[in-house]
Amino acid sequence: MPTSGTLFESLIILSHVTMFLSLLVVDWIVLVESIPEGLVFNSSTTHQSIYEAWLNLISGAQSSLDIASFYWTLTNDDTHTHEATANQGEQILQELGQLSGKVSVRIAVDKPSERKPMDDIKFLTDSGADVRMVNMRELTSGVLHTKFWIVDKKHIYIGSANMDWRSLTQVKELGAVVYDCSCLAKDLGKIFEAYWYLSQTKTVPAQWPEKYSTLYNKDTPMQLSLNGTDSSVYLSSSPPSLCAEGRTPDLQSVLSVIADAQQFVYIAVMNYLPTMEYSSHKRYWADIDTQLRRVAYERSVRVRLLISCWDSTNPIMIPFLRSLASLQDKSKLDVQVRLFTVPTNPRQKQIPYARVNHNKYMVTDKVAYIGTSNWSGDYFVNTAGSALVVNQTSAQSISPTVQEQLQAVFERDWESSYSTDINHRTNRKDIC
Ligand SMILES: *[C@@H]1O[C@H](CO)[C@@H](O)[C@H](O)[C@H]1NC(C)=O
Ligand SMILES: *[C@@H]1O[C@H](CO)[C@@H](O)[C@H](O)[C@H]1NC(C)=O
Ligand SMILES: *[C@@H]1O[C@H](CO)[C@@H](O)[C@H](O)[C@H]1NC(C)=O
Ligand SMILES: *[C@@H]1O[C@H](CO)[C@@H](O)[C@H](O)[C@H]1NC(C)=O
Repeated sequence: MPTSGTLFESLIILSHVTMFLSLLVVDWIVLVESIPEGLVFNSSTTHQSIYEAWLNLISGAQSSLDIASFYWTLTNDDTHTHEATANQGEQILQELGQLSGKVSVRIAVDKPSERKPMDDIKFLTDSGADVRMVNMRELTSGVLHTKFWIVDKKHIYIGSANMDWRSLTQVKELGAVVYDCSCLAKDLGKIFEAYWYLSQTKTVPAQWPEKYSTLYNKDTPMQLSLNGTDSSVYLSSSPPSLCAEGRTPDLQSVLSVIADAQQFVYIAVMNYLPTMEYSSHKRYWADIDTQLRRVAYERSVRVRLLISCWDSTNPIMIPFLRSLASLQDKSKLDVQVRLFTVPTNPRQKQIPYARVNHNKYMVTDKVAYIGTSNWSGDYFVNTAGSALVVNQTSAQSISPTVQEQLQAVFERDWESSYSTDINHRTNRKDIC
């Protein structure tokens, strides 16, 4: 029988050992990007490629990989071209196939319409992956647009890249990987489990069971140490009907991040529309637009939007952006809009749905928001998406924060020769 003295001593030793171990296991976060072939920035701001990050995650997987995805075209069979730059996507698919034979691989994918390619999905199923279709069209009249990975219930990837070879080499993308962070992975797992459940049902539960609920949201974020920096972190989700108890809906997250900014709000998204883009009747939807105008007017917050311009840009987006960009008045009102165009050579022009900036993030003087949604009403009202919000404002850290890194990415793109100021004469056709 140990005396209380020795028990006490062993407890102290034990707690030192635990402290030591917890110092060894550091959660870390890495921004990851896809920079399209031929796009060159005159800047030292670079990040690991999404391709490398995915390969790392696959090679490190010990027991499980869960992927939420919109569609799968990792080989270029879909385009009937022979693109050398499809090799990265093809390699990812091969590696995922091999992994599917070894560990549990679960894939939730939006139920493909008749015309969507099914080859990758069939290949993964044959390789041993458990693939389930989520019929969001029927469930919420939206789509499953979310893109994230959860590895070994420990590491996560979230970002704009689809499971598409173009997302690695021909489309500009941004995401984040968080390693060794089981608390965050567990919380993202709840969003994944909701998709998994929905793949087996015809209606969205009016009340989600307890196991899908979360303690972590915009009011009570998770307290983590990322790269040794104190961080408040949470995950938001859309549409609201998919949010169990405690989960911050993605729109509330966007609005609160904008409201919290003191100096600036920088937004880089592919599409920005104060409308319900896909509704059969015209519907105006200005929740985000109003919030931006409000902070610009009431608190002189500097607002910058970097929006994508390509062949398929909805022409109506331009006048709405011109309207925002007209809010300029010396130092009192400062809203600026630029269009980002990915240059295209004749060969690249042959690749459908490529050569575009597909980013979906926001950075303020306080917070980094990394999402998966385009910014129009549909994506917040009926389409499934999610976002990672990282707040390191309270940290006294000398190492760069995620917010600073994301701000540098935004400024690199904003200042680059690929961005053009929008003005009252701007027509889509003149720019892209
Ligand atoms: C790159 O930026 C530096 C510093 O701003 C400038 O001196 C240089 O001329 C630029 N180079 C190109 C190719 O734009
Ligand atoms: C970020 O954290 C600070 C300090 O903890 C808090 O006051 C602020 O509301 C947070 N911002 C957001 C957008 O969550
Ligand atoms: C975002 O919008 C574009 C253009 O409307 C659309 O093609 C795309 O499917 C949407 N979502 C993605 C892939 O992120
Ligand atoms: C965290 O650490 C990783 C690995 O050293 C580094 O690549 C990344 O840039 C760091 N992230 C931040 C926000 O400092």
